[in-house]
Amino acid sequence: MKPVILVTGGTGYIGSHTVVELLEEKMEVVIIDNLSNSEREVLDGIAGITGTRPHFEEVDLRDRKATYGVFEKYPRIDAIIHFAAFKAVGESVEKPLDYYENNLLSLIHLLEAMHKYRVGHMVFSSSCTVYGEPDSVPVTEDAPIKKANSPYGNTKQISEEIMQDWLNASRDKSIIALRYFNPIGAHPSALIGELPTGIPNNLVPFITQTAAGIRDCLNVFGDDYNTPDGSAIRDYINVVDLARAHVVAIRRLLEGNQKAAFEVFNLGTGKGLSVFEVIAAFEKATGQKLNYRIVDRREGDVEQVYADTRYANQELGWKAEKGIEETLRSAWEWEKQIRSKKATS
Ligand code: NAD
Ligand code: UFG
Repeated sequence: MKPVILVTGGTGYIGSHTVVELLEEKMEVVIIDNLSNSEREVLDGIAGITGTRPHFEEVDLRDRKATYGVFEKYPRIDAIIHFAAFKAVGESVEKPLDYYENNLLSLIHLLEAMHKYRVGHMVFSSSCTVYGEPDSVPVTEDAPIKKANSPYGNTKQISEEIMQDWLNASRDKSIIALRYFNPIGAHPSALIGELPTGIPNNLVPFITQTAAGIRDCLNVFGDDYNTPDGSAIRDYINVVDLARAHVVAIRRLLEGNQKAAFEVFNLGTGKGLSVFEVIAAFEKATGQKLNYRIVDRREGDVEQVYADTRYANQELGWKAEKGIEETLRSAWEWEKQIRSKKATS
């Protein structure tokens, strides 16, 4: 029998790419999403790539009763991948309670449902934000957790603590927390990708929108960091590579191969790139000249963070494979695809 995987936030950016990989591995997928930051049409993209339409339940995870209803309707759920959360760092500073309510209550309801409906496993979306400004790079999984510099980051730290406390009190359950570095790019089909609302906060959507002429100019936030070219350094990982890691984590849980009830893995490439290096790679990969200017540092940004991926590589047998140029090209193809769709609708 096919394993049945419940994917919360499955019409979102990382969720949709993961659903594609799960379907391609012949798993059955049930999506829960309240469409607060995604669109139902994403399901068409998933079906276009895989030939399969996943089950879809428009449910808000803050609603415990409705969440339980999904477990009643699909009694054979083997594992959960929990992506659903609010994720905008700046917005979380403006509306902290919304972030604590959405991100923590959703998790608690799912853990309660795991107990009630006897679901043994979960993969949780965590973030390298839990490391803050690391003492040294590349950062390993046992690096200290630093005080969060936003309510969003704090929800990820608290979520990890909640899961560990819950596992201490629950038998026969296991969870893998995946700490993502900077996911970028889109599916090579250009049928799914990231759909930022309003002015993008993140570097790559801002780059593609600038190249597409929607934004006049990219602001490079600071060239006075203590890095070789002065701009900040991150670990940019292709979203399809990231999605594949979720399939590996799910298999590890279903096959009972985890070493502890709670495991943590870094998901990155292991290579840090500066903002200027990303701009140069984008120009090279796409042939587009990018308009940019240097402005002040952005408040709350760390100087450099990139992953030590050895533990994930060895234990999961997974490695990020796609290079930065291929990844930026996929982001550009996706941007062009959205523009042409908007122009014709
Ligand atoms: P996304 O916003 O594209 O996807 C999240 C999905 O969850 C959306 O479709 C949204 O509608 C849904 N959702 C939110 N609250 C919900 C609720 N209460 N009930 C049901 N559905 C709800 O975000 P993403 O970039 O795909 O991120 C997925 C996860 O990965 C999040 O937990 C995020 O914090 C984490 N993460 C993302 C990044 C990144 O840079 N994208 C980095 C580190 C961690
Ligand atoms: N940057 C610019 N100009 C922009 C946008 C970003 O120069 O218009 C720079 C930033 O200063 C940073 C780099 O590009 O140096 C990457 O910025 P992003 O906003 O794309 O990503 P962050 O590393 O700041 O944040 C991401 C996620 C957060 C998560 C964090 C963890 O978006 O959700 O990683 O480190 F909390």
